[in-house]
Amino acid sequence: MKEIITIANQKGGVGKTTTAVNLAAALAIAEKKVLLIDFDPQANATSSLGFYKSDYEFNIYHTLIGAKNIEDVILNTTIETLDLIPSNIGLVAIEKELDNLKDRELTLKKVLKPIEDKYDYIIIDSPPTLGTITINALCASNSIIIPIQCEFFALEGLAQLLNTIKLVKRTKNPELKIKGIIPTMYTSQNNLAKQVLSDLVRHFGPKMFVDMKSEKKRYIVIPRNVRLAEAPSFGKPVALYDIKSKGAQAYNKLAENILGVDNG
Ligand SMILES: Nc1ncnc2c1ncn2[C@@H]1O[C@H](COP(=O)(O)OP(=O)(O)O)[C@@H](O)[C@H]1O
Ligand SMILES: [Mg+2]
Repeated sequence: MKEIITIANQKGGVGKTTTAVNLAAALAIAEKKVLLIDFDPQANATSSLGFYKSDYEFNIYHTLIGAKNIEDVILNTTIETLDLIPSNIGLVAIEKELDNLKDRELTLKKVLKPIEDKYDYIIIDSPPTLGTITINALCASNSIIIPIQCEFFALEGLAQLLNTIKLVKRTKNPELKIKGIIPTMYTSQNNLAKQVLSDLVRHFGPKMFVDMKSEKKRYIVIPRNVRLAEAPSFGKPVALYDIKSKGAQAYNKLAENILGVDNG
């Protein structure tokens, strides 16, 4: 079954792009057919996979305004089963372009229709806002993964995000589910990080991802890991940059959980 997952949190710098890129890569390495959509005008997911402005002429924006077919903006990546739809700073204009359109929230959903059955997973990286772009992503998705940085103010803004999800469910996409919460940049030596993690478990226990290969119940956390921060500058997901790193292993576990859940 194909599944469309948006990675969202309106806070910036919490690990959305890192999660989108590395989860997409881990699923693709597990031989699933995966499409990563960069849906942030900052285009960090695009550059994380080694693509720069001069490498592609068209991006997701051109499909949303109807200037290009979706098939024409897909790029192949170095992982055979991973495709990318790039973004570009020009995407900021979309908020205005769609402003007067009826059902503007469903624009991405409509645009994806012709290709969605070609993939096992479509992963959407979203910008740090709850505006038209993120709403479009949520309307096009089956589920959302929320990365939460294990630091002070981690839970700030979460209520607003949860309300937005409820609103989208009620009005446009009744099927939308919270697939899970993934704690990011976790440092076990840091007491505050431990506190944030235990708060998350208390509030969202059943929505936390668990390690499918551990006999004891163990929640998956993404550690703070320098390899994860370095990999984008080499234009690679961490699995191709340093497969043995703690960061690569953590995203692999997240992918295993998603595949396990998917297999029932
Ligand atoms: N687990 C991690 N360990 C170390 N650095 C990380 C980790 N996750 C993200 N980063 C770094 O933190 C910064 C913000 O992450 P990013 O994924 O771009 O967040 P967002 O997309 O939510 O703005 C980036 O420089 C990224 O490389
Ligand atoms: Mg980002």
